[in-house]
Amino acid sequence: MDAMPHGLLPTELVIGHPEVDAQHDEIFCRIESLKNVMLEDGQPHYAELDSLVDFFKLHFATEESCACAAGIEFSAHAREHLKSLRVLSRATADLRAGRLDLRTFLRYLEYWFEQHINDFDKVLGHRLEDARERANRGL
Ligand SMILES: [Fe+2]
Ligand SMILES: [Fe+2]
Repeated sequence: MDAMPHGLLPTELVIGHPEVDAQHDEIFCRIESLKNVMLEDGQPHYAELDSLVDFFKLHFATEESCACAAGIEFSAHAREHLKSLRVLSRATADLRAGRLDLRTFLRYLEYWFEQHINDFDKVLGHRLEDARERANRGL
C-alpha cells in the first residue's frame, strides 16, 4: 500500500506505522468523498457507505494482526473496535430507514474516528515502535 496516497490525515494524528497511517488516511478520504457527494446531489450513497464499513473491518483486522505479530496485548482495543462496528451497523440501518441524517452521521463518524486514533491507535503506535526497537536490539 502507498505510504500516504491522499494526504487528508492530519499530521497530529499520524501514529508512525506506515500501513496503519495509510489506512487512516484512506478512511478520512472516503468520509470526505461521501460528504462531497451528499453536498452535490443530496442523496446518501449506500454502496460507498457499505464499502467504508467494510474498509473499517479490514482496518481493525490490520491493527489487530500488527499488535498480535508484535506480541502486544490488544483486548481492550479489540473490544472498542467490536463496539464501533456494532454502532456503525446500527447507524447504517438507521440511515436506510430514514431515522438518521447522513451528514450528521458523517460529522459524528469523523469526530469519533479522531478520538479513537487519539485514545487507542496512538498507544498502539508507541507500542509497535517499542517492539520494533526491542527486535532491533535483539531482545
Ligand atoms: Fe485505526
Ligand atoms: Fe483502532
